[in-house]
Amino acid sequence: MLFPTFSTAVMAFAAFTSTVDALPPRPGTTTLSNLAKKMPTNTLPAPTGLELKYVLLGVGTQNYTCLTNNATAAPDTTGATAKLYDLGTRLNSDPLAQWKIPAISGLALSLSAFGTWQLDMYLMAEGYNQWLGNHFFTLKVPTFSLYKTKSTPHPLAMVSKQADQDAPKTACQGTKGEGAVKWLYLVDQSVPELSQGGVNTVYRLETAGGNKPATCQGQKQYFEVPYAAQYWVYGPKA
Ligand SMILES: *[C@@H]1O[C@H](CO)[C@@H](O)[C@H](O)[C@H]1NC(C)=O
Ligand SMILES: *[C@@H]1O[C@H](CO)[C@@H](O)[C@H](O)[C@H]1NC(C)=O
Repeated sequence: MLFPTFSTAVMAFAAFTSTVDALPPRPGTTTLSNLAKKMPTNTLPAPTGLELKYVLLGVGTQNYTCLTNNATAAPDTTGATAKLYDLGTRLNSDPLAQWKIPAISGLALSLSAFGTWQLDMYLMAEGYNQWLGNHFFTLKVPTFSLYKTKSTPHPLAMVSKQADQDAPKTACQGTKGEGAVKWLYLVDQSVPELSQGGVNTVYRLETAGGNKPATCQGQKQYFEVPYAAQYWVYGPKA
């Protein structure tokens, strides 16, 4: 009987983390100035003049379609959906942040492949378990809604891709070796801005998995590839 053991462990973690959770400040209320210096090295345009507001772990799926009934065609990218967890509050004061950052996405993705409680246990143990909102697409616009934060208006970024780069060769290739999706630089270019709550620029970094297969051979019309990534969210200085 494994189940009682598991639930006891989960309850022990929950009891442990509920006391720890009282300590860190609310997400979005402190500057992430320590963490800003540890942004993963990339070739994307720099966040010049902006302030780091959130560092989020996204765990979910990249969605693709193969609607043309053509086995040699490449799948179309239709969107993504992910839950967004607060990494920034904890990592900002973690002396080991720089060593943890490259490992978190791959670890989260591999744990989520087993089921939600394995991922939840890890998030609780590290203090990353505050679920702040969701990533999804509004029509075709990549959207990050932090509707679970206490700030008003809720931080909302509605952005479009301005630049990308391949994920590093060392990136986690996904639960079935699909490959890691690209790193992205996403900015709200709408006039007036659609974003609100002090955020307008998002970097997708430290990606794990999520890539589409080269062709539609053997794929369903609608399919999903699990992924995890870090979203480094910036906005104008407060
Ligand atoms: C199938 O896709 C390939 C690759 O995009 C293309 O070259 C080919 O013309 C397509 N075939 C049909 C029947 O549309
Ligand atoms: C992606 O797939 C999920 C699960 O089927 C679905 O809920 C979501 O609406 C899809 N999102 C997009 C943008 O296609």
